[in-house]
Amino acid sequence: MDRITIRTPDDWHTHQRDGEMLKAVVNYTARQFRRAIVMPNLVDPVIKSADAAAYRDRIRAALTPENAGFEPLMTCYLTDTIDPDDVAQGHADGVLTAAKLYPAGATTNSDSGVTDVANIFPVLERMEAIGMPLLIHGEVTSDDIDIFDREAVFIDRILRDLVERFPKLKVVFEHITTKDAVDFVKESGPLVAATITPQHLHINRNAIFKGGINPHQYCLPVAKRELHRLALREAATAGTAKFFLGTDTAPHAQHAKESACGCAGIFNAPYALESYLAVFDEEDAIEHFEGFASLHGPAFYGLPLNEGTVTLECVEHEIPATIGGGDTLTVPFHAGETIRWRMVEA
Ligand code: DOR
Ligand code: ZN
Repeated sequence: MDRITIRTPDDWHTHQRDGEMLKAVVNYTARQFRRAIVMPNLVDPVIKSADAAAYRDRIRAALTPENAGFEPLMTCYLTDTIDPDDVAQGHADGVLTAAKLYPAGATTNSDSGVTDVANIFPVLERMEAIGMPLLIHGEVTSDDIDIFDREAVFIDRILRDLVERFPKLKVVFEHITTKDAVDFVKESGPLVAATITPQHLHINRNAIFKGGINPHQYCLPVAKRELHRLALREAATAGTAKFFLGTDTAPHAQHAKESACGCAGIFNAPYALESYLAVFDEEDAIEHFEGFASLHGPAFYGLPLNEGTVTLECVEHEIPATIGGGDTLTVPFHAGETIRWRMVEA
């Protein structure tokens, strides 16, 4: 096969940032995807629905004319003191698509996150009643839990109970990284789904340390052992509706990554479809690529499928070492590597 055309896909997990970085990155997502879930972890988190509406306007204003049809799907950031009425009203108004649970301290800009999941039971009850999805960064944060075990421990200590307590709540277990998470999602009912990033399909934890510390392979949740990567590849490529595309594209300036305390996050938006398709190709599962990229996500969220198509062709090309310049110079995922697929410009 040297060309593949699929219905226009969506990205169910992105970080678009703000200000100059927003302008530098959003068109990479908008070029490949019709819609994207936008995470609320700005330096001042997006908590109120009015803040989400204003952020959505800034995103739209940063789109180039050829990407004007791109639709940012906004989320709010749950806190211990979140107002359930505001969340429900934001959803009713069409501003908020979903709400995000960051355990406090789990990742970039998560200091105002939830300290005890019981604090958000009232808002979860409302979300369950109105069919608003809960998106979860599923890691415990306590220092006594090894960083490579934090996702598995989150399932046992928090997620299993949460899903039982709110059986009609739609839950997306975001950027899963372990076989434990794959198994949990498969065993749960149809209202529990998961996104999978390109990096967790391509790399295991060795990549972070190969030949020295590699900050551009570092994200959270951190990549795990090979057995987990293989379980994720099987889950993504098997055609199961519970697993769908969410890149977790998380740009940080090169200097912020290559620092004594480098930021977590991998900027994969520029070649996201190419990166995923390489995996489906390697797994001999190209026939399941469209489901993962374009069908399973809308079905779970209850949104219409996109009109239109995108085409990728099989042509080897090299991913650039850096993207952009100045304060927004970034290093993309796969920098300097040769990749076999390339999106054909519309
Ligand atoms: O690696 C990550 N980067 N993981 C997250 O959960 C957040 C993200 C970011 O915002 O940089
Ligand atoms: Zn994320």
